[in-house]
Amino acid sequence: MDKKNRKKLWVMNSIFALICGGILVFLLSAPEETTSALPKDEDHIKFQTKQGKKEAEKYCGECHDDGKDVPLPDGHPPKYRCLFCHKRN
Ligand code: HEC
Ligand code: HEC
Repeated sequence: MDKKNRKKLWVMNSIFALICGGILVFLLSAPEETTSALPKDEDHIKFQTKQGKKEAEKYCGECHDDGKDVPLPDGHPPKYRCLFCHKRN
């Protein structure tokens, strides 16, 4: 490889490294997770572990559907798969 090509390669590699670094910084600076976790109280404790997530989610609506005890707030995001957002802990 002659000198000119080697320099070009070095420049390209540097740019690549900078882009990778940029993406990493972007990902690491994502905001902290703020969505409330699944509570650990009496109502929810049985959903914390026993069943698979999909199984557990069948029961959320019994209390959280519209018109039930604790309906979801206005402007709640699409509610498909509760436990992906409201993490178990
Ligand atoms: C037996 C009724 C009942 C069932 C079933 C139920 N919940 Fe709840 N949930 C409640 C009540 C009551 C509250 C409000 C009081 C509290 O925070 O525990 C609540 C509150 C919440 C909150 C808000 C917690 C906070 O920090 O503000 C989340 C999130 C939640 N439930 C998710 C779920 C999910 C996901 C499921 C299904 C796996 C589920 N709930 C099933 C009764 C229920
Ligand atoms: C796409 C993500 C997502 C999904 C899926 C989801 N939620 Fe939420 N939920 C949120 C966000 C964001 C809020 C706003 C308040 C917050 O930061 O917790 C919220 C709020 C709530 C609240 C009000 C109490 C609180 O923490 O403010 C309840 C109760 C709740 N969700 C239950 C459920 C249930 C039950 C399901 C499934 C049927 C579900 N959510 C699915 C993201 C989600």
